Amino acid sequence: MKIFHTVSGLRDILNQDRRQGARIGFVPTMGNLHDGHLALIRQARESNDIVVCSIFVNALQFGLNEDWDRYPRTYETDCEKLREVGCDYLFYPDDVEMYPNGLDTQSRVICPTMTDVLCGASRPGHFEGVTTVVSKLFNIVQPDEAIFGIKDYQQLAVIRRMAEDLCMPVQISPAAIHREPDGLAMSSRNSYISDEERPRVTVLKQCLEWIAEQIQAGNKDFSQLEAKAKQRITEAGFGVDYVTISNSKTLDPAANDDLEITILGAMFTEAARLIDNLSVDLS
Ligand code: PAF
Repeated sequence: MKIFHTVSGLRDILNQDRRQGARIGFVPTMGNLHDGHLALIRQARESNDIVVCSIFVNALQFGLNEDWDRYPRTYETDCEKLREVGCDYLFYPDDVEMYPNGLDTQSRVICPTMTDVLCGASRPGHFEGVTTVVSKLFNIVQPDEAIFGIKDYQQLAVIRRMAEDLCMPVQISPAAIHREPDGLAMSSRNSYISDEERPRVTVLKQCLEWIAEQIQAGNKDFSQLEAKAKQRITEAGFGVDYVTISNSKTLDPAANDDLEITILGAMFTEAARLIDNLSVDLS
Protein backbone atom coordinates (compact mmCIF):
# COMPACT_ATOMS: atom_id res chain seq x y z
CA MET A 1 0.00 0.00 0.00
CA LYS A 2 1.35 3.43 -0.94
CA ILE A 3 0.85 6.26 1.54
CA PHE A 4 0.41 9.87 0.44
CA HIS A 5 0.50 12.94 2.67
CA THR A 6 0.02 15.52 -0.06
CA VAL A 7 -2.76 16.29 -2.51
CA SER A 8 -0.30 16.58 -5.39
CA GLY A 9 1.37 13.21 -4.67
CA LEU A 10 -1.95 11.37 -4.64
CA ARG A 11 -3.23 13.22 -7.71
CA ASP A 12 -0.11 12.39 -9.74
CA ILE A 13 -0.43 8.66 -9.24
CA LEU A 14 -4.21 8.63 -9.71
CA ASN A 15 -3.85 10.58 -12.96
CA GLN A 16 -1.48 7.88 -14.23
CA ASP A 17 -3.92 5.14 -13.17
CA ARG A 18 -6.82 6.93 -14.80
CA ARG A 19 -4.89 7.34 -18.07
CA GLN A 20 -4.51 3.55 -18.08
CA GLY A 21 -8.27 3.17 -17.74
CA ALA A 22 -8.40 2.25 -14.04
CA ARG A 23 -11.69 2.60 -12.19
CA ILE A 24 -11.13 4.29 -8.82
CA GLY A 25 -13.03 3.35 -5.65
CA PHE A 26 -12.83 5.54 -2.55
CA VAL A 27 -13.54 5.05 1.16
CA PRO A 28 -13.19 8.22 3.29
CA THR A 29 -12.64 7.59 7.02
CA MET A 30 -11.45 9.28 10.18
CA GLY A 31 -9.32 6.24 11.10
CA ASN A 32 -9.54 3.99 14.17
CA LEU A 33 -10.62 1.39 11.67
CA HIS A 34 -12.85 -1.50 12.71
CA ASP A 35 -14.39 -4.40 10.76
CA GLY A 36 -17.14 -2.09 9.48
CA HIS A 37 -14.58 0.13 7.73
CA LEU A 38 -12.74 -2.90 6.37
CA ALA A 39 -16.00 -4.16 4.86
CA LEU A 40 -16.26 -0.83 2.99
CA ILE A 41 -12.75 -1.35 1.59
CA ARG A 42 -13.63 -4.92 0.56
CA GLN A 43 -16.78 -3.64 -1.14
CA ALA A 44 -14.73 -1.01 -3.01
CA ARG A 45 -12.24 -3.74 -3.98
CA GLU A 46 -14.97 -5.81 -5.66
CA SER A 47 -15.92 -3.23 -8.28
CA ASN A 48 -12.83 -1.06 -8.76
CA ASP A 49 -9.25 -1.47 -10.05
CA ILE A 50 -7.72 0.94 -7.53
CA VAL A 51 -8.97 1.42 -3.96
CA VAL A 52 -8.15 4.63 -2.10
CA CYS A 53 -8.83 5.14 1.61
CA SER A 54 -8.39 8.46 3.40
CA ILE A 55 -7.79 8.96 7.11
CA PHE A 56 -8.41 12.50 8.30
CA VAL A 57 -9.94 13.50 11.63
CA ASN A 58 -11.80 16.49 10.26
CA ALA A 59 -11.93 19.30 12.84
CA LEU A 60 -14.55 21.13 10.72
CA GLN A 61 -17.23 18.54 11.57
CA PHE A 62 -16.68 18.55 15.34
CA GLY A 63 -18.48 21.00 17.61
CA LEU A 64 -16.54 23.01 20.21
CA ASN A 65 -17.45 20.65 23.04
CA GLU A 66 -17.09 17.47 21.04
CA ASP A 67 -14.34 14.85 21.01
CA TRP A 68 -11.98 16.03 18.22
CA ASP A 69 -8.95 16.11 20.53
CA ARG A 70 -9.64 12.73 22.13
CA TYR A 71 -10.94 11.00 18.98
CA PRO A 72 -8.94 7.73 18.85
CA ARG A 73 -5.96 8.01 16.47
CA THR A 74 -4.50 4.59 15.66
CA TYR A 75 -2.45 5.21 12.52
CA GLU A 76 -0.04 2.24 12.72
CA THR A 77 -2.71 -0.41 13.30
CA ASP A 78 -4.97 1.25 10.72
CA CYS A 79 -2.17 0.90 8.13
CA GLU A 80 -1.71 -2.79 8.97
CA LYS A 81 -5.43 -3.43 8.60
CA LEU A 82 -5.61 -1.56 5.29
CA ARG A 83 -2.66 -3.55 3.91
CA GLU A 84 -4.30 -6.83 4.94
CA VAL A 85 -7.57 -5.94 3.25
CA GLY A 86 -5.89 -4.91 -0.02
CA CYS A 87 -6.15 -1.13 -0.03
CA ASP A 88 -3.91 0.34 -2.76
CA TYR A 89 -3.45 3.94 -1.60
CA LEU A 90 -3.88 5.63 1.76
CA PHE A 91 -4.31 9.41 1.77
CA TYR A 92 -3.20 10.69 5.18
CA PRO A 93 -3.01 14.49 5.04
CA ASP A 94 -2.46 16.82 7.98
CA ASP A 95 -4.66 19.82 8.81
CA VAL A 96 -2.51 22.26 6.82
CA GLU A 97 -2.66 20.10 3.71
CA MET A 98 -6.46 19.90 3.92
CA TYR A 99 -7.12 23.45 5.11
CA PRO A 100 -4.16 25.55 3.89
CA ASN A 101 -6.11 28.79 4.36
CA GLY A 102 -7.28 27.86 7.86
CA LEU A 103 -10.69 26.68 9.02
CA ASP A 104 -12.36 30.03 9.57
CA THR A 105 -12.17 31.24 5.97
CA GLN A 106 -12.60 27.82 4.35
CA SER A 107 -15.26 27.82 1.58
CA ARG A 108 -18.07 25.51 2.61
CA VAL A 109 -20.67 23.23 1.07
CA ILE A 110 -24.13 23.54 2.60
CA CYS A 111 -26.92 21.04 2.13
CA PRO A 112 -29.91 22.79 3.74
CA THR A 113 -32.96 21.40 5.56
CA MET A 114 -31.88 17.75 5.68
CA THR A 115 -28.97 18.73 7.89
CA ASP A 116 -31.07 20.65 10.43
CA VAL A 117 -32.84 17.55 11.78
CA LEU A 118 -31.83 14.37 13.65
CA CYS A 119 -28.05 14.45 14.33
CA GLY A 120 -27.85 17.90 12.73
CA ALA A 121 -30.21 19.32 15.38
CA SER A 122 -27.93 18.36 18.25
CA ARG A 123 -24.66 18.83 16.34
CA PRO A 124 -24.99 22.24 14.63
CA GLY A 125 -22.46 22.67 11.83
CA HIS A 126 -21.54 18.98 11.82
CA PHE A 127 -22.91 18.15 8.38
CA GLU A 128 -21.50 21.34 6.87
CA GLY A 129 -18.10 20.07 8.01
CA VAL A 130 -18.82 16.64 6.52
CA THR A 131 -20.08 17.88 3.13
CA THR A 132 -17.19 20.33 2.89
CA VAL A 133 -14.48 17.77 3.59
CA VAL A 134 -16.13 15.08 1.47
CA SER A 135 -16.38 17.54 -1.47
CA LYS A 136 -12.69 18.35 -1.07
CA LEU A 137 -11.81 14.67 -0.89
CA PHE A 138 -13.93 13.95 -3.99
CA ASN A 139 -12.10 16.73 -5.84
CA ILE A 140 -8.74 15.35 -4.75
CA VAL A 141 -9.43 11.66 -5.47
CA GLN A 142 -12.01 12.06 -8.28
CA PRO A 143 -13.34 8.57 -7.63
CA ASP A 144 -15.73 6.69 -9.88
CA GLU A 145 -17.38 5.23 -6.77
CA ALA A 146 -17.38 6.23 -3.09
CA ILE A 147 -18.65 3.91 -0.36
CA PHE A 148 -20.42 5.11 2.81
CA GLY A 149 -21.78 2.99 5.64
CA ILE A 150 -25.54 2.89 6.22
CA LYS A 151 -24.83 3.21 9.95
CA ASP A 152 -24.40 6.94 9.43
CA TYR A 153 -27.72 7.02 7.58
CA GLN A 154 -28.19 10.77 7.64
CA GLN A 155 -24.63 11.31 6.43
CA LEU A 156 -25.23 8.91 3.53
CA ALA A 157 -28.53 10.64 2.62
CA VAL A 158 -26.93 14.10 2.79
CA ILE A 159 -23.94 13.07 0.67
CA ARG A 160 -26.21 11.45 -1.91
CA ARG A 161 -28.22 14.65 -2.07
CA MET A 162 -25.09 16.81 -2.30
CA ALA A 163 -23.68 14.70 -5.14
CA GLU A 164 -27.03 14.88 -6.99
CA ASP A 165 -27.53 18.63 -6.42
CA LEU A 166 -23.98 19.56 -7.39
CA CYS A 167 -23.76 17.10 -10.34
CA MET A 168 -20.74 15.36 -8.87
CA PRO A 169 -19.63 12.59 -11.24
CA VAL A 170 -19.35 9.92 -8.56
CA GLN A 171 -21.48 6.89 -7.73
CA ILE A 172 -22.38 6.91 -4.04
CA SER A 173 -22.75 3.32 -2.82
CA PRO A 174 -24.17 2.28 0.56
CA ALA A 175 -22.61 -0.47 2.67
CA ALA A 176 -24.53 -2.57 5.20
CA ILE A 177 -24.20 -1.89 8.93
CA HIS A 178 -21.57 -4.08 10.58
CA ARG A 179 -22.62 -5.29 14.03
CA GLU A 180 -21.05 -6.86 17.11
CA PRO A 181 -22.38 -10.37 17.95
CA ASP A 182 -25.05 -8.88 20.26
CA GLY A 183 -26.23 -6.46 17.56
CA LEU A 184 -24.48 -3.22 18.59
CA ALA A 185 -23.60 -1.27 15.43
CA MET A 186 -19.81 -0.99 15.08
CA SER A 187 -18.48 2.50 15.64
CA SER A 188 -15.16 4.08 16.50
CA ARG A 189 -16.91 5.67 19.47
CA ASN A 190 -17.94 2.30 20.98
CA SER A 191 -14.60 2.39 22.83
CA TYR A 192 -16.13 5.14 25.02
CA ILE A 193 -18.82 2.75 26.37
CA SER A 194 -18.11 1.54 29.91
CA ASP A 195 -18.13 -2.19 30.81
CA GLU A 196 -21.09 -1.54 33.09
CA GLU A 197 -23.13 0.06 30.28
CA ARG A 198 -22.09 -2.33 27.51
CA PRO A 199 -24.73 -5.09 28.05
CA ARG A 200 -27.54 -2.49 28.07
CA VAL A 201 -26.67 -0.42 24.98
CA THR A 202 -28.40 -2.90 22.65
CA VAL A 203 -31.66 -1.30 23.82
CA LEU A 204 -31.35 1.17 20.94
CA LYS A 205 -31.38 -1.54 18.27
CA GLN A 206 -34.15 -3.42 20.11
CA CYS A 207 -36.33 -0.30 20.04
CA LEU A 208 -35.78 0.24 16.32
CA GLU A 209 -36.66 -3.41 15.65
CA TRP A 210 -39.78 -3.15 17.78
CA ILE A 211 -40.93 -0.06 15.86
CA ALA A 212 -40.22 -1.79 12.53
CA GLU A 213 -42.35 -4.78 13.59
CA GLN A 214 -45.18 -2.49 14.66
CA ILE A 215 -45.11 -0.57 11.35
CA GLN A 216 -45.02 -3.79 9.35
CA ALA A 217 -48.03 -4.99 11.34
CA GLY A 218 -49.92 -1.84 10.25
CA ASN A 219 -49.42 0.47 13.26
CA LYS A 220 -49.00 3.98 11.79
CA ASP A 221 -49.24 5.91 15.05
CA PHE A 222 -45.68 7.11 14.59
CA SER A 223 -45.56 9.61 17.43
CA GLN A 224 -46.81 7.01 19.92
CA LEU A 225 -44.22 4.47 18.66
CA GLU A 226 -41.45 7.05 19.00
CA ALA A 227 -42.59 7.99 22.51
CA LYS A 228 -42.68 4.36 23.70
CA ALA A 229 -39.20 3.68 22.32
CA LYS A 230 -37.83 6.81 24.01
CA GLN A 231 -39.35 5.72 27.31
CA ARG A 232 -37.71 2.29 27.01
CA ILE A 233 -34.29 3.85 26.35
CA THR A 234 -34.71 6.14 29.36
CA GLU A 235 -35.71 3.17 31.52
CA ALA A 236 -32.51 1.38 30.41
CA GLY A 237 -30.56 4.29 31.93
CA PHE A 238 -29.59 6.29 28.85
CA GLY A 239 -30.34 9.78 27.61
CA VAL A 240 -32.41 10.01 24.44
CA ASP A 241 -31.33 12.37 21.68
CA TYR A 242 -34.01 11.27 19.21
CA VAL A 243 -36.02 8.34 17.96
CA THR A 244 -37.63 9.39 14.69
CA ILE A 245 -39.58 7.63 11.98
CA SER A 246 -38.60 9.34 8.72
CA ASN A 247 -39.06 9.24 4.99
CA SER A 248 -35.98 7.29 3.83
CA LYS A 249 -35.01 9.75 1.10
CA THR A 250 -35.90 13.21 2.38
CA LEU A 251 -35.56 12.48 6.13
CA ASP A 252 -38.81 14.41 6.65
CA PRO A 253 -41.09 12.91 9.34
CA ALA A 254 -42.70 9.85 7.73
CA ALA A 255 -46.19 10.31 6.27
CA ASN A 256 -48.84 7.60 6.59
CA ASP A 257 -48.58 6.70 2.90
CA ASP A 258 -44.76 6.61 2.71
CA LEU A 259 -43.53 3.25 1.43
CA GLU A 260 -39.85 3.64 2.28
CA ILE A 261 -39.40 4.46 5.92
CA THR A 262 -36.28 4.65 8.06
CA ILE A 263 -36.34 4.58 11.85
CA LEU A 264 -33.40 6.48 13.27
CA GLY A 265 -32.23 6.70 16.86
CA ALA A 266 -29.50 8.40 18.87
CA MET A 267 -28.85 8.02 22.58
CA PHE A 268 -26.28 9.10 25.13
CA THR A 269 -24.28 6.82 27.40
CA GLU A 270 -22.02 8.37 30.05
CA ALA A 271 -19.29 9.22 27.51
CA ALA A 272 -20.62 8.26 24.08
CA ARG A 273 -23.37 9.24 21.72
CA LEU A 274 -24.57 6.15 19.84
CA ILE A 275 -26.63 6.09 16.65
CA ASP A 276 -28.41 3.33 14.76
CA ASN A 277 -31.14 2.97 12.15
CA LEU A 278 -33.36 0.46 10.43
CA SER A 279 -35.19 0.81 7.12
CA VAL A 280 -38.60 -0.66 6.35
CA ASP A 281 -39.82 -1.20 2.80
CA LEU A 282 -43.63 -1.29 2.68
CA SER A 283 -43.94 -1.46 -1.13
O1 PAF B 1 -18.00 8.99 8.47
C1 PAF B 1 -16.88 9.52 8.68
O2 PAF B 1 -15.94 8.86 9.15
C2 PAF B 1 -16.67 10.98 8.35
O3 PAF B 1 -17.81 11.72 8.59
C3 PAF B 1 -16.17 11.20 6.92
C4 PAF B 1 -17.19 10.77 5.88
C5 PAF B 1 -14.87 10.46 6.69
C6 PAF B 1 -15.91 12.69 6.68
O4 PAF B 1 -14.95 13.18 7.56
